[in-house]
Amino acid sequence: MERVGGGRWGEFWRRASCCLQSAAATLGRSTAAHEALFMVDRTRVPVHERLSKNPCWLLPPHHRLHRLNRRRAWVGSRVSSEVQKKAMENGRGSSCVANDERWSLAGATALVTGGTKGIGHAIVEELARFGAAIHTCSRNEAELNKSLKEWGAKNFKVTGSVCDVACRADREKLMEDVKSTFGGKLSILVNNAGTGKPMVAVTPDEYGFMMSTNLESAFHLNQLAHPLLKASGAGSIVNVSSLAGIVGIDNITIYGATKAALNQLTRSLACEWAKDNIRTNCVAPGSIRTPLMEPLLAMEEFVAKETYRIPLGRVGESEEVSAVVAFLCLPAACYINGQVICIDGGKSVNGNL
Ligand SMILES: NC(=O)c1ccc[n+]([C@@H]2O[C@H](COP(=O)([O-])OP(=O)(O)OC[C@H]3O[C@@H](n4cnc5c(N)ncnc54)[C@H](OP(=O)(O)O)[C@@H]3O)[C@@H](O)[C@H]2O)c1
Repeated sequence: MERVGGGRWGEFWRRASCCLQSAAATLGRSTAAHEALFMVDRTRVPVHERLSKNPCWLLPPHHRLHRLNRRRAWVGSRVSSEVQKKAMENGRGSSCVANDERWSLAGATALVTGGTKGIGHAIVEELARFGAAIHTCSRNEAELNKSLKEWGAKNFKVTGSVCDVACRADREKLMEDVKSTFGGKLSILVNNAGTGKPMVAVTPDEYGFMMSTNLESAFHLNQLAHPLLKASGAGSIVNVSSLAGIVGIDNITIYGATKAALNQLTRSLACEWAKDNIRTNCVAPGSIRTPLMEPLLAMEEFVAKETYRIPLGRVGESEEVSAVVAFLCLPAACYINGQVICIDGGKSVNGNL
């Protein structure tokens, strides 16, 4: 036990210090902390001298403890705000842009696969309206040229290549085109091109076709685009998946499997490439009126069955998907990463029979 001075006052301080030390020890405080807190004197400086140097000791112990904790919290917050500042300086999820820039894609460059029809067509137009320059592709040259002409008339900045995304050499050629068109920098990649049809008995060829069009193409294009997205300083990938990758749907098993894999690819890349300031997200549409769905939506029975489970009571339109894709690409969405967002009128959450 330490001596804290002589006489009655010394005895008083010794006893008080003793009681408070044991109380603190019971609370599990570290020795150093409660020695500091309860003025244990290892230097044998008389109490009145220590009190005159630091009047804080006149405070009751719980007030001193409160001050100590406040100091710890302050040091902690300084450390975490340094980490935060560093991540922001490196540009990771940086929101440090002016207010009007948060809702604009002026100066952004984008590659949207499968832009001549359906959802891809709507995405090209949506991004163009936000000010982005876009490169797109499809397998049909005549349809591609027709679309490019229409976009030119609307003053949209859109270029295009003929490309089958299921073919590796075509994908490499496409990315070369993108690199030279945009000077080596790509802000946005939308992996939209995909296909699916009901299949009961899936042949090996059909299986391979579905895998290479829906999954391998997205994986490989993401890989090829990585240096360009990184070079842009703030990249955004949006993969177009499907509700069939989240819930089970009869007769489109392999289609569903490719889309479920795309969802997981999204989550993994979101973690892996965040360090390069590339965000990766995914949209999962339900039934959307497009040329792909036209034959099915022409059947009354199919529409009735399909809309029965959709709380909004109707199928969606391509523009209702493209709006979400554009939002995910905007600087305003800079803290959204690794998400799979259903655009299905509420079908995926409907628990009613
Ligand atoms: N519509 C829906 O209800 C729905 C629901 C969930 C998910 N999705 C997904 O949304 C995406 C778009 O579907 P959509 O309904 O808009 O289809 P769509 O109407 O058939 O349009 C597909 C577009 O992609 C192009 N494309 C298809 N295969 C291609 C390939 N191998 N290489 C290059 N381009 C290709 C097509 O042009 P070419 O044929 O000339 O090549 C066309 O421009 C797909 O990934 C699909 O799985 C659609």
